[in-house]
Amino acid sequence: MTTLILSPLFKLLVSLHLLCYSGYSFAYEGEETTVQDSSMQPSCIPPYKGSEEGTYLKLVDKHGPCSPLIQKGRVNALSDFESLKHDEARIEAIQSRIGKPGLVTLPTANRFIITVGLGTPKKEVSLSFDTGSYLAWTQCKSRSGRYYFRQKHPIFDPSKSRTFSHLKCSSPYCSGSESTCIYPRCKYLSGYGDGTRVEGYYSQDRLALTSSDVIDNFVFGCSENNTGLFNEFEEDGIIGLGQHPLSIVYQTAKKHHKIFSYCLPSKTVVGFLRFGGTTKQSLVYTPIITYKSDTSAYGIGITGIALNGKRLPIPSSLFAKAGAIIDSGTTTSRLPPEIYKPFRDQYRKAMSKYKFVDPKYVGSGYDILDTCHSLGHQKSFKFPRISFLFSGGVSVDIPVPSITYNSTIACFAFSGKPFNGGGFNFIWGQYQQRTLEVEYDLGKGRLGFGYGACK
Ligand SMILES: *[C@@H]1O[C@H](CO)[C@@H](O)[C@H](O)[C@H]1NC(C)=O
Ligand SMILES: *[C@@H]1O[C@H](CO)[C@@H](O)[C@H](O)[C@H]1NC(C)=O
Repeated sequence: MTTLILSPLFKLLVSLHLLCYSGYSFAYEGEETTVQDSSMQPSCIPPYKGSEEGTYLKLVDKHGPCSPLIQKGRVNALSDFESLKHDEARIEAIQSRIGKPGLVTLPTANRFIITVGLGTPKKEVSLSFDTGSYLAWTQCKSRSGRYYFRQKHPIFDPSKSRTFSHLKCSSPYCSGSESTCIYPRCKYLSGYGDGTRVEGYYSQDRLALTSSDVIDNFVFGCSENNTGLFNEFEEDGIIGLGQHPLSIVYQTAKKHHKIFSYCLPSKTVVGFLRFGGTTKQSLVYTPIITYKSDTSAYGIGITGIALNGKRLPIPSSLFAKAGAIIDSGTTTSRLPPEIYKPFRDQYRKAMSKYKFVDPKYVGSGYDILDTCHSLGHQKSFKFPRISFLFSGGVSVDIPVPSITYNSTIACFAFSGKPFNGGGFNFIWGQYQQRTLEVEYDLGKGRLGFGYGACK
């Protein structure tokens, strides 16, 4: 029997293609992918990183078998198609914060979580990891708190932690537009177009990333009045890694030198989030761009797209005009229509020997996808090789060109549904990053990419 399910597909794409390093670009050699009989065996072991520096945390897909939430029966496995629906709410949130610095959360499409320890004695909290926001928050027990999301662990109780304190109004962290001084405490409030609101007091406590990497007086949000979509998600909060003094990346600058990297895994394996240190991998680098409309977002300079090594005839001025960010929380990349259309048309051409299937008949989430093909039951099929070209002359091959739906249908993992992000109209999302090592080096102002860091 042939099974074409997400995880083995990822593994095959990574293992069957010979990686070769040539100057500034990596390339996958060969495009034929053979699908073998394989069952969805989870391998919930983090990738081997023994010889590398830095602090490693396991990163798991919340809806996959390695998730602590699934194991406790708290969330149902969500198909990749179902998760597309949540992209819409995230995009709305991104749009609604244009020119409004200080909004902290982008709930919804996040699906990668880490588990850390908070307080003394420490309590476990599972947090969504998000490069599109900057505050770390969890829900806290409080006499004044009224509205709580459902969550996995018991709600954090500050009165039971010896190292807990409220942040004082005089702290420089209490100065953003989302902050108000309710003497002597500092309150924050964030609200979004999608209806999610998080309200609480900035607090400080000991954060144990791992047993050997402990941060004292870490500033985070203790949310106590929370309403909206996040309720569906069950994790205990969010940890933001955006460009902002409040972000963990800045709070631990002395220790981790504003360097972090991650590998977003496929559903049945464990990836990583690493703070500090350097990788043994050879990475290719492109500069980080900062947009005035959203200074915490990580901008990247996309200059072109190539299919099977051939650059698409889309003027680079269109890419420059669009402006792009890299986001760990949006599932499929969102492209402006004038770039998306010629790109999609070339992909359709390359896939013309497979039967086109109207995405409408495929399932939920179809409204942001428009190109799906039936792969039939053949053991071998071909995807075109897709490369993104970035400023600095860097080219990165996308490990996953399509999302598979049940075992026989593959949909182009990009969307051309327009949105207005202010300074940027192009979001480079999760599917395009999975299995890559992505390193953020804020000190050097650059982003690095490497292949096959996890499966
Ligand atoms: C939460 O809501 C309650 C009831 O409306 C209110 O008394 C309390 O001050 C709110 N908490 C914050 C941090 O604003
Ligand atoms: C996959 O989904 C399509 C569209 O809903 C359906 O026609 C097809 O029979 C399904 N295939 C399998 C193997 O379930």
